[in-house]
Amino acid sequence: MTKHFINIEDLSISDLDQVIDKAIELKHQHISGKLNKSLENKTLAMIFDKPSTRTRVSFEAGMTQLGGHSLFLSENDIQIGRGEPLADSAIVISSMVDAVMLRVSSHEDINVFANNSNVPVINALSDESHPCQLLADMMTYKEIYGSIKGKNVAWIGDGNNMCQTYMQSAKVFGFMLNIASPQGYLPSEAFIEKYRKHINICGTVEEACSGADLVVTDVWSGMGQEDEKHKRELDFEGFQVNNKLMSLANKDAPFMHCLPAHRGEEVSAEVIDGERSLVWQEAENRLHVQKSLLLFLLNK
Ligand code: CP
Ligand code: NVA
Repeated sequence: MTKHFINIEDLSISDLDQVIDKAIELKHQHISGKLNKSLENKTLAMIFDKPSTRTRVSFEAGMTQLGGHSLFLSENDIQIGRGEPLADSAIVISSMVDAVMLRVSSHEDINVFANNSNVPVINALSDESHPCQLLADMMTYKEIYGSIKGKNVAWIGDGNNMCQTYMQSAKVFGFMLNIASPQGYLPSEAFIEKYRKHINICGTVEEACSGADLVVTDVWSGMGQEDEKHKRELDFEGFQVNNKLMSLANKDAPFMHCLPAHRGEEVSAEVIDGERSLVWQEAENRLHVQKSLLLFLLNK
């Protein structure tokens, strides 16, 4: 059966551990200059209907490093942009390539594509989740601190796609997620219900951060929410991760952010550019962990 990676829970904890451990090995190999051409002659199609820096560059460079090739397909440049059904596009594209990565607005579109694809489909961000980013975050935590099982993670801000992927990850990786969101910006009811045992909805940012082993946030307005920017700036007042808030977390607790970030909004410059910030390592690890994911999904 074709393996897809649409939600972090599509992989068991042992598969996730295997992907992360292999990513750490691939990173060392890459740094030492050792070549790995396991995906020679393989092609990854990358379909984007939203902008990207990290996701595009990491998948593209990763395929090159593994001896394969990637195709950047902006939705507006292919027939999907002119209304060709996704299902038809999936049948055609998957008959020609070895894996497909999609960044789309609607999570359901990824399911439709996967249901009609003969090759692995990877969710590279939807309105619901961003599992590739969580692979990189979990790899980054493991590299420095070891297992995240039993730890407390603070989520400060929007209950968005990143927050919801942290909720799913709390269940699979076994940590507790303490969420502080402004009124009206909690994750979806369905997610809160489903992951109830693995999350705490906190009344204040201070409560969420107290005793945290990791503090995470994301932008106040995500891609496609530009029209709400002004309203959100008002609604998110007080939801900034700054040194005062970080001082409530455990002494060694790091800060993570998927990037791009807005200094002075969801995070202060002193935190994101400070010594507890892991944002650059997190971003770099997208490369290594997605190479590992591709090897896993393609049984290499
Ligand atoms: N974190 C992340 O997915 O970044 P991009 O939007 O630049 O791909
Ligand atoms: N929550 C952000 C993540 C960007 C990587 C967005 O969806 O725009």
